[in-house]
Amino acid sequence: MEKVKTKWICQNCGYETAKYLGKCPDCFSWGTIVEEKVCSQNNKTSSLSIKNFNNQKPELLSSINFNQIDNIKRQKSGIDEFDRVTGGGLVLGSLNLIAGDPGIGKSTLLLQVCSKLAKNGLKLLYVSAEESAIQIKLRANRLNINSDNLYIYTNTNFELIEMQINDLKPDILVIDSIQTIFKSTLSSVSGTVSQIKECTLSFMQIAKTLNITIIIVGHVTKDGNIAGPKILEHMVDSVFYFEGDKYKSYRILRCNKNRFGATDELGMFEMEEFGLRQILNPSELFLNKHKEDDNGISGSVIVATNDGNRPLLVEIESLVGVTPYPSPRRVANGVDYNRLLQILAVLEKRLGLNLSKQDVYVNVAGGLNIYEPSSDLGIAVAILSCAYDVVFDPKTVLLGEISLSGYIKNVTNIEKRILEAQKLGFNRIIIPKQQNKKFKDFKIKILEVEKLKDVVKLCIGNLKK
Ligand SMILES: Nc1ncnc2c1ncn2[C@@H]1O[C@H](COP(=O)(O)OP(=O)(O)OP(=O)(O)O)[C@@H](O)[C@H]1O
Ligand SMILES: [Mg+2]
Repeated sequence: MEKVKTKWICQNCGYETAKYLGKCPDCFSWGTIVEEKVCSQNNKTSSLSIKNFNNQKPELLSSINFNQIDNIKRQKSGIDEFDRVTGGGLVLGSLNLIAGDPGIGKSTLLLQVCSKLAKNGLKLLYVSAEESAIQIKLRANRLNINSDNLYIYTNTNFELIEMQINDLKPDILVIDSIQTIFKSTLSSVSGTVSQIKECTLSFMQIAKTLNITIIIVGHVTKDGNIAGPKILEHMVDSVFYFEGDKYKSYRILRCNKNRFGATDELGMFEMEEFGLRQILNPSELFLNKHKEDDNGISGSVIVATNDGNRPLLVEIESLVGVTPYPSPRRVANGVDYNRLLQILAVLEKRLGLNLSKQDVYVNVAGGLNIYEPSSDLGIAVAILSCAYDVVFDPKTVLLGEISLSGYIKNVTNIEKRILEAQKLGFNRIIIPKQQNKKFKDFKIKILEVEKLKDVVKLCIGNLKK
């Protein structure tokens, strides 16, 4: 009779122990260690992988044909925002993981990508372990998707899914989601560390041996990490996060790991009734539209921030007013609270601005979160503009990190940010003083500043109320 062994495994990090522990010694989380049965059978490698690997011999690096690099074929979907994040399209035979909060739109995005890929003549198999075929059809109808190359299979059993893959031989396989797939050879329930690890490993073998591009959907925990063991992220070729705000319709696709491309790209989408619409010019989304004859409002400035590798122009608003409370309030929406306190301290010390009896509110328009220090200068000028009730030129963009000494520090990716400001029709950009760089090819007026005081002189005038 087959001997059944059990292990205690942390569902958070995959730590294994022979006995129950209340607290995981590896990730320090409480109550996450669960007993899982491990049959000796699970050590068996799938017959498919043995069959495909038994002719393989070690190769000398020097003997590997350079032309093989051309074989790294990319499957472009035609959805520019998706293709850019994947590094120019999904690589043939790669295993990709897309994770995101419940209801953020993972299945919608993948169905839209699948329909585009199917239109390019590729055969797709969409395995849905969470929804019925009717539910997918309803979504497809809403998204206006109909394709002869897109197959839907609704099952949670790995062995049955593997059989369908062997029969159909699709070019692209979508697994929605990995937490709901189970192998019957393992006695633990789906979603446990052993199941996720084993199923992902088998999908990896399928991707590499049959040259099928696989996209697996992953759930996230309430902390925002991918549910299941960390090893899941190590096993796959690329990891993408699909994120957004619950109360806003925009979504961001971010790359966290990519074995075939850069990770600093991001794609932006807007969730609409008929599916996700790509936002090709994201800066427009985060800029409040002022009328031409509008002379502007005090406390509002535009900063050139950088999300991933992509410049983004964002409006920062500030409100400064006399406090009715014994201690003044500081409210930071979309900017780091401690950073705001630091900027206020610099303003008080270096410019003599007295805010001890004033409430200060700072908000990023559009609900975006910007934690990049390059927006420091924008926050400071927005506060000054409101405190002195001076309208800051709405056609000027600000850029720079403020040091505690009141000097403006340089920022990364400066050319791209200047170019974005120029592209969107701004007249001036204020940047930190450059040591060895000269910007000649820009039409936009570039003003270099060294200290916070210089910016104030330039934009707000003499600080007298
Ligand atoms: N008629 C509609 N109009 C606008 N948006 C809709 C409509 N129907 C669905 N949505 C949007 O689609 C989202 C659900 O998308 P989807 O099922 O792709 O998410 P998911 O990330 O796959 O969710 P799950 O975690 O449940 O699998 C909803 O949260 C909502 O934002
Ligand atoms: Mg879904």
